[in-house]
Amino acid sequence: MDRADEIRQTVREYYAGRASGGSCCAGATCCGGAEGSEDLLGPSLGCGTPLGAAEVQLGETVVDLGSGAGGDVLRAAQQVGGRGRAIGVDMTPEMVWKARENARRNSAVNTEFYLGEIEHLPLADGSADVVISNCVINLAPDKSAVFAEAFRVLRPGGRLIVADMVSQGPLPDAIRADPAAWAACISGAAEVTEYLATIGRAGFERAQTVASTPSSPGQVFSVTVRAIKPSA
Ligand SMILES: C[S@@+](CC[C@H](N)C(=O)[O-])C[C@H]1O[C@@H](n2cnc3c(N)ncnc32)[C@H](O)[C@@H]1O
Repeated sequence: MDRADEIRQTVREYYAGRASGGSCCAGATCCGGAEGSEDLLGPSLGCGTPLGAAEVQLGETVVDLGSGAGGDVLRAAQQVGGRGRAIGVDMTPEMVWKARENARRNSAVNTEFYLGEIEHLPLADGSADVVISNCVINLAPDKSAVFAEAFRVLRPGGRLIVADMVSQGPLPDAIRADPAAWAACISGAAEVTEYLATIGRAGFERAQTVASTPSSPGQVFSVTVRAIKPSA
């Protein structure tokens, strides 16, 4: 198994446990520094509110990268209405099962949940108006591939809005090398300037931070970033 697969395997096992209600990392904090929260739409393990900055319209198609138990997809489904679609993709089977169960419980018929890696989205080119993600891309070993896939599935003029953990300056090598710290959204946090540059290299325009938590050098913190796929 190569290092990227080892990381994905560790992350998958960790979130399989979270789907069944286990605590984060044997009592440690969840991704985003909280113990996770729960509302009527199910548990959230996110670190921001990307939907809040997405200005979703009726009839749009929204794709959530790393949809977990499906809370943001269910919220997006309410915003796009019956003629829109809200689609979640997650690589952890237990999360996809949980999300589908939550959708059934909420009678959310305009939702779809697919098992898959966000580095290889099971979706057609130009099929989405909005791509969101909440505290997931830091967990992906190949962030360039994730942003390239987000770019591919968005229509020209489509919006990318992601909440994620990033770092202010470099993190110590020992932390970077620890797969368990990847699963807790620490080791995989890219430096914020590099994160924005990676989004730009994927082809997006106007990548900008629209929200962030306070940070100091060497720390991991949460940002929400918005960017646009240029119109054709
Ligand atoms: C911290 S949780 C966030 C879940 C959800 N976005 C939320 O706000 O509650 C991270 C989720 O990302 C998924 N994930 C991590 N890396 C992934 C990848 N490379 N491809 C697809 N899903 C991934 C995990 O299975 C897990 O469900």
